[in-house]
Amino acid sequence: MVRLLSLKKLLMVYFVMSTGALLWLILNFGLFCDTSSKEEETLLTKTKDLRQWEERLRRRERDLLKKPQEDANLPTIYAIMPTHTRHVQKAELTRLAQTFLHVKNFHWILVEDSDSQTDLVTRFLASCGIKYTHLNIKTPENYQLKETDPNWLKPRGVEQRNVGLQWLRENLDLDRDRGVVYFADDDNTYSLQLFDEMRHTRGVSVWPVGLVGGMRFERPVVEHGKVVRWYTYWRPERPFAIDMAGFAVNLQLILENRQVKFELRVRRGYLESSLLQHLVTMDELEPLADNCTKVLVWHTRTEKPKMKQENFLIQAGRPSDPRIEV
Ligand code: UGA
Ligand code: MN
Repeated sequence: MVRLLSLKKLLMVYFVMSTGALLWLILNFGLFCDTSSKEEETLLTKTKDLRQWEERLRRRERDLLKKPQEDANLPTIYAIMPTHTRHVQKAELTRLAQTFLHVKNFHWILVEDSDSQTDLVTRFLASCGIKYTHLNIKTPENYQLKETDPNWLKPRGVEQRNVGLQWLRENLDLDRDRGVVYFADDDNTYSLQLFDEMRHTRGVSVWPVGLVGGMRFERPVVEHGKVVRWYTYWRPERPFAIDMAGFAVNLQLILENRQVKFELRVRRGYLESSLLQHLVTMDELEPLADNCTKVLVWHTRTEKPKMKQENFLIQAGRPSDPRIEV
């Protein structure tokens, strides 16, 4: 009887304890489950939010790097630009790219003065976000400027511009492609307004250039809507006494006159004339920039950086890390 009672008690205790344990488990497990799913839910929303932000930032970055939306109705600006290796090259190209990124339908034809395309320019172009064509041609030895030569002694960028013209003629179609060709230096400063002005050039358009020819500006002088002479101190009698940065040519004119190019063996100051005289007369020029009264491009020249200390280190056998691109 006693054994039976204690067995009953034991069973009761067992029952109560296991039910309690079960209840505790259910409650705790349930509670735990609840917290975990709530936390998980908030975590998931946060991750989703972060992903969305990440994607938004990535898109914004792409937009910033990408040109403004191309407009099929606008003619393309083909900017042929010679460039050569020197300490400031990447800085110049960066400065220019960040201007050109703002220009719609812009095609950068960058022509290196070198036997082969350099890694620096190749990498630079690949990540610049601008539509481009990368070309190269080395200036013939006897036309290269020596370190000690004054820069006016020989014309610069001539063969490079001609290779750019050749590319246009080989790759574009007279009936299909609409555009304007501009010859840009890699050290000039370009206002965005300049590109709006030149885009609808029908033949050859002209405008002033700042900080050139030893003057504040040079410009075509316009009377009754026509260019009548050149405001320049040096040789105003030249057929086209205008800097390379001061004119643009309609693409069709370039494609129709397939043999026209810059003359390497030309007298100082006659490089621009060597091309233009085969394409247009003074009377036909289209004056832009408020009848050639506004300066929208500057013939800036970047100071050559001093490398005195760098050279000391080279002589001491401790040159700076060549893996760091400047
Ligand atoms: C001025 C004009 O702005 C040039 O467009 C014109 O070619 C030059 O005169 C000339 O008469 O030949 P400037 O500023 O004095 O030019 O010359 P740079 O800017 O030194 O050179 C013009 C272009 O040719 C630049 O884009 C430059 O990178 C390139 N260049 C220069 C080479 O490709 N190779 C060189 O050895 C030197
Ligand atoms: Mn220049």
